[in-house]
Amino acid sequence: MIKNRNLLVTGGAGFIGANYVLYWLENHPQDKVVVLDALTYAGNRANLASVEDNANFTFMHGDICDTNLVETLLKEHQLDTIVHFAAESHVDRSITGPDAFIETNILGTYSLLKAAKKVWIDEPKAEGKSPLVHRFHHVSTDEVYGTLAPTDPAFTEQTAYAPNSPYSASKAASDHLVRAYHHTYGLEVTTSNCSNNYGPYHFPEKLIPLIITNILHNKPLPIYGDGQQIRDWLYVEDHARGIELVLNKGKVGENYNIGGHNEWTNIDIVTLVCQVMNAQFESDLTLATRFPNALSVINDSAEELITFVSDRAGHDRRYAIDATKTNNELGYKPTESFETGIKKTVKWYLGNEIWWSDLLSADIVL
Ligand SMILES: NC(=O)c1ccc[n+]([C@@H]2O[C@H](COP(=O)([O-])OP(=O)(O)OC[C@H]3O[C@@H](n4cnc5c(N)ncnc54)[C@H](O)[C@@H]3O)[C@@H](O)[C@H]2O)c1
Repeated sequence: MIKNRNLLVTGGAGFIGANYVLYWLENHPQDKVVVLDALTYAGNRANLASVEDNANFTFMHGDICDTNLVETLLKEHQLDTIVHFAAESHVDRSITGPDAFIETNILGTYSLLKAAKKVWIDEPKAEGKSPLVHRFHHVSTDEVYGTLAPTDPAFTEQTAYAPNSPYSASKAASDHLVRAYHHTYGLEVTTSNCSNNYGPYHFPEKLIPLIITNILHNKPLPIYGDGQQIRDWLYVEDHARGIELVLNKGKVGENYNIGGHNEWTNIDIVTLVCQVMNAQFESDLTLATRFPNALSVINDSAEELITFVSDRAGHDRRYAIDATKTNNELGYKPTESFETGIKKTVKWYLGNEIWWSDLLSADIVL
């Protein structure tokens, strides 16, 4: 295990990457973190505002496809760990415009692997030295495993890949490249496949923040198809904890599923968010003054905004993660229950209107 890490966090200005950087610097104050982020529509430097003055934090605006830039960063900052979050991540966008997903998720991951191999293995070798101590951690998704029928067992690390959307196919391709760089070149890699995340800094085109912000604008809450699609939800900080365990205790070359055994249908989750919002407005009367347009929730009936819309093309029916390996081998256990996590998340959005109101004017894809 590397004791004091110098990390390159790709996509660190996005939802999970930013939560990970904040978690890491708080829990590993001696470590150095360099964020490399292209600041696409999903990247937001404001997510990192609380660590901008930290002497151990550096932000680099750039593209993971720029292999020379990655090599320079690895050398200049003597980075020994890459935690690779950067990706195009929104399934609906992958259906209307797959190009960016192929570029960033496949070619971008390849670019990082090339740079890592060159700086950590090839260059020391050419000088007659051993490879530098290193770790490449790749952040992937449960969506690479495809879709499940209602009674199928949850995905394990042995489940065959069967990605169904351009997003999940591009992530699956990147997972295979990471695996191959370990098998062929000895690059020290780990991969984690995580279920759906929720929590602070989630871009408001994703389901939970979309529902919260639409309720505040008294706008319809769109539910795809019959709303019976099932997703497995994990609080974002518990994802960060899982990656930390994989980095510190995981075996090189292995994949680890991260999840919280927390399956919900879309309709149930939207109904739950409505109920939490109703309760918040009931217990805090200032909210009605701050959000005067939120008429349904002010009247304790946010659910009336629920609107069924045509289903997404090729929509996967169910994802479920079996995280037994990660639980048993690494001692992983999520700390946040869904009840507490959803309340925390709703409260965060109610308290951080400035953060999301700027983003709502952006080009949101439902
Ligand atoms: N959101 C989830 O529920 C979930 C679940 C499991 C796994 N994942 C994986 O976790 C990772 C992060 O997901 P997220 O939801 O935080 O995504 P996000 O879309 O919120 O953030 C992606 C970040 O990557 C940056 N980025 C995009 N292209 C880039 C490029 N070419 N070079 C550098 N930076 C680039 C963006 O600017 C943004 O900051 C992704 O790899 C995703 O596949 C997400």
